[in-house]
Amino acid sequence: MDYKQLSVVLLLVFLRHELVFSSSILRSHLCPKHQSTALLKFKQTFTIDTFDMCGLMLGQESYPKTSSWNLSKDCCLWDGVKCDEMSGHVIELDLGCSLLVGVIDSNSSLFQLSHLQRLNLSMNNFDGSQISPKFGRFSSMTHLDLSRSYFSGQIPSEISHLSKLHSLLLYTFYLNKLRLASHDFKSLLRNLTQLRELNLRSINISSTIPPIFSSHLTTLRLGWTGLYGIIPESIFHLPNLERLDLHHNDQLNGYFPKTKWNSSASLIELDLTDVNFSDTLPESLGNLTSLQSLTLQNCNLRGPIPESLSNLTHVESLYLGDNSLNGTIPSWIFSLPSLSLVYLSNNQFSGQLEDFKSNSLVWIYLQDNQLQGHLPTSIQNLVNLTTLDLSSNNFSGSVDVSFFSNLKYLLDLGLSYNRITLTNEDKVKSTLPESLEKLGLAACEVKEFEFLRSAKNLKELDLSNNKIQGRIPDWAWSNWEFSVSTLNLSHNMLTSMDSIPLQSLDTIDLRSNFLQGSLPIPAISTRYFFISENNLSGEIPSSLCNLMSLKMLVLAKNNLSGAIPQCLGNMSYILEVLDMHHNNLSGALPTTFSIESSLRSLNLHGNKLQGKIPRSLVNCKRLQVLDLGDNHLNDTFPMWLGTLPELQVLSLRSNKLHGSIQPSRVASLFPQLRIIDLSYNAFSGNLPTSLFQHLKAMRTIDPLTKSPSNGRDGYYQDSVVVVTKGLELEVVRILFLYTTIDLSSNKFGGHIPSVLGDLIALRVMNLSHNGLQGHIPSSLGNLSVVESLDLSFNQLSGEIPEQLASLTYLEFLRLSHNHLVGCIPIGRQFATFQNNSYDGNDGLRGFPVSEDCGSRKMPKRNNTTQVLNQESNSTFLSEFRKTIPMGYGSGLIIGLFIAYFMLSSRNSNWLSRITEELEYRIVMRRRKKKQQRGRQRRH
Ligand SMILES: *[C@@H]1O[C@H](CO)[C@@H](O)[C@H](O)[C@H]1NC(C)=O
Ligand SMILES: *[C@@H]1O[C@H](CO)[C@@H](O)[C@H](O)[C@H]1NC(C)=O
Ligand SMILES: *[C@@H]1O[C@H](CO)[C@@H](O)[C@H](O)[C@H]1NC(C)=O
Ligand SMILES: *[C@@H]1O[C@H](CO)[C@@H](O)[C@H](O)[C@H]1NC(C)=O
Ligand SMILES: *[C@@H]1O[C@H](CO)[C@@H](O)[C@H](O)[C@H]1NC(C)=O
Ligand SMILES: *[C@@H]1O[C@H](CO)[C@@H](O)[C@H](O)[C@H]1NC(C)=O
Repeated sequence: MDYKQLSVVLLLVFLRHELVFSSSILRSHLCPKHQSTALLKFKQTFTIDTFDMCGLMLGQESYPKTSSWNLSKDCCLWDGVKCDEMSGHVIELDLGCSLLVGVIDSNSSLFQLSHLQRLNLSMNNFDGSQISPKFGRFSSMTHLDLSRSYFSGQIPSEISHLSKLHSLLLYTFYLNKLRLASHDFKSLLRNLTQLRELNLRSINISSTIPPIFSSHLTTLRLGWTGLYGIIPESIFHLPNLERLDLHHNDQLNGYFPKTKWNSSASLIELDLTDVNFSDTLPESLGNLTSLQSLTLQNCNLRGPIPESLSNLTHVESLYLGDNSLNGTIPSWIFSLPSLSLVYLSNNQFSGQLEDFKSNSLVWIYLQDNQLQGHLPTSIQNLVNLTTLDLSSNNFSGSVDVSFFSNLKYLLDLGLSYNRITLTNEDKVKSTLPESLEKLGLAACEVKEFEFLRSAKNLKELDLSNNKIQGRIPDWAWSNWEFSVSTLNLSHNMLTSMDSIPLQSLDTIDLRSNFLQGSLPIPAISTRYFFISENNLSGEIPSSLCNLMSLKMLVLAKNNLSGAIPQCLGNMSYILEVLDMHHNNLSGALPTTFSIESSLRSLNLHGNKLQGKIPRSLVNCKRLQVLDLGDNHLNDTFPMWLGTLPELQVLSLRSNKLHGSIQPSRVASLFPQLRIIDLSYNAFSGNLPTSLFQHLKAMRTIDPLTKSPSNGRDGYYQDSVVVVTKGLELEVVRILFLYTTIDLSSNKFGGHIPSVLGDLIALRVMNLSHNGLQGHIPSSLGNLSVVESLDLSFNQLSGEIPEQLASLTYLEFLRLSHNHLVGCIPIGRQFATFQNNSYDGNDGLRGFPVSEDCGSRKMPKRNNTTQVLNQESNSTFLSEFRKTIPMGYGSGLIIGLFIAYFMLSSRNSNWLSRITEELEYRIVMRRRKKKQQRGRQRRH
């Protein structure tokens, strides 16, 4: 080989070596060292979670991407890391669902990766750390996803420096954990002119909606953000908008665009749930021909569904529930070719249901309307149907169980509260679909269980308000043994139930049957147990105390006898409601109410309980209702109960309580008390002036006072017996309307303290049948809403104070059998009282007793009086004994849960809404109920 050759070879070798060398430089130094160091440092700030939130919520398993990161590989090849091919800078970091647990603070090495364009840290656990202002330094960032990762606190204003952002996702699972100042919200929408997608759901913004400067915007999600004011119409005109979601901003108002939305009709999803429109549905909605999902729930909409919606041929779900929409449900709805979910519940739709022509329907919710007629037979063609809820309408006629036998996927069927008679012609062949998990047949004239033979997967069964007699057959119990968790058989004619062999029971309602024999004890998983209004007898077995999860135990109105098991007191750690009123129980009360007690209602009225009021009740700090009336308790006044901060109702009437009510030095006593009934005891001494000086809740008239809280969606209603206007009434639902002091039929003496006039919220005051002396204090004229005032059968003397004439709500007045003298005052209400209000006094004159009272004239009974009467009657009397039709309510929530779950396989985006949806439904129901109550109060 000559020199030339050699040099060529050497050159080649060198070049090759150089080539290899430089390419190896290129490769090993693709990721600059400071970046891999930064990434490793970042990795080391976290531990790996054992709880897989993504798996649970998104059905997409998490795995720890950072675990495989180490220096044996170029960092550009690490899982979740992407580098720029030319510069080697890390430009993308995707650590969504990576099970990271730890804090990201401003010192985090993450912020050294200054070239990042895409950053996804969603679905990790950053442990409540704040979003650092340094996130605002990623000047090349186009996609930032910090959603659902347990960040908290104020979102830094620096985020709006990221002017290249296309996508900003900061939404959270938890309401109000993150806040965005309204001026930062404004600059965000002003500065981020490239934005395509913005999701700030559940972040507390509490602002109006500022102008939006990005015309590229396709997705805007601002649900649960506390927005208020009016939705700028320009939002509806954004040229590329596909998804608009402003749900659950109940301070937000809107006006629909009357003609045009955006010109390209690009909207695919519209969710304005809870936004107040106070309007009819506009024809122009029909222009949104790309729409797949239309959600306008609880938007204060009225009037009919416009014909133009028939043009929405792509619409897959239609949520228009909880409005006041009326008219018939147009037939074309059930022909929309893509529609899978229709939710029109809680409106005022009437008329008959037209035939179902689109077999794509999977979920149909039409409950709480005024629909009538027979069920259309075309329902049988909806072979993919999983949910059909038609409850609480006026549907009529008989429906045979075979009607549903084609619906092989049916999970949830609700026919309760119509005028439907369920029949079962073919008794041999059971025809209900085996898939059925939830069945609501309340008030469907059901007489027997036979038709349920094939339904072996039932989880929730409501057969309340039917005509089922006798006992539950063994085959039914064994069908239900491992599946049924909620069973409602209340208001039937069942006569015996020796045991309740259901292993997964959560709620059982057997109220108002003819059950005899001893108290059956359900499985230990049971949380809600209602068996009141039956004929059960014998003792309450202490095995009841094995029910470690029991929250409500309602055994009222039976014939149970013997002592209350002591161990029930120990259960008050979980137990919220213990109601055994009107039984035959004797012996002492349990004495072991635990510290940290959850008890909020204890009703033992109408038994034969003896002994003292147990001092351990002072542990029940959440107690709202305590009714021990009509027993044989022998004690002095339990002033110590005054420290219970939430006690609203205290009834100790008709016991053997005695002694004088002594002053107490405690600073605040009975702050929430609104009903105190000590009547028919043997209390003596002066009226308890020092007690009257407390009673804060009776000193203000607050139209917003709340009823004792109802658990389980209002399932349990507190009740208390109140004597008003001479009538004894069981007040069930409207305890919060009553403010009552009843000290009648005791041995109180002395004067009526004028401080009673400070209790201006009093509706009912009864001091009758005592030994009270002296004058009626003129301060009673301050009780401006008092409706019933009874001071009869005392030793009161002097004149009736003129001030009482101003009590315009007073409907019932008894001053009889005292030593009163002088003129009866003249006033609108006084014109309505009869002689018996004043009988048996020493010298009362004037109307109605006599005409003789100087120059004063009796006023005419004019219309005003009657109007006032009507008003106070209706605020009050009309409420008696009403109960909310007992619910099948919570079922809806679960139904939706299933609905969303089912949809998840098709559209995982929807599933991520589960938590909020659920929470929302619950809030909605409460609010709806509150509104109803408000309405009823106003009538
Ligand atoms: C808008 O973005 C620019 C450039 O990124 C930045 O300098 C400015 O401070 C931002 N404005 C606000 C109000 O954040
Ligand atoms: C939208 O609908 C309204 C009413 O249905 C109609 O008058 C109008 O022409 C439509 N506009 C477009 C752009 O389709
Ligand atoms: C449906 O859309 C067509 C045009 O696409 C229009 O002519 C028709 O009036 C619309 N129907 C209704 C009921 O709005
Ligand atoms: C629908 O409600 C409106 C009031 O919002 C009423 O005027 C109209 O008569 C109702 N229509 C039907 C069909 O009930
Ligand atoms: C029922 O659902 C299946 C699976 O999604 C589908 O293939 C079938 O076409 C549906 N049936 C009807 C009648 O829509
Ligand atoms: C109440 O109990 C005491 C003993 O503690 C007893 O002397 C008294 O007779 C009892 N009173 C009534 C009315 O039973």
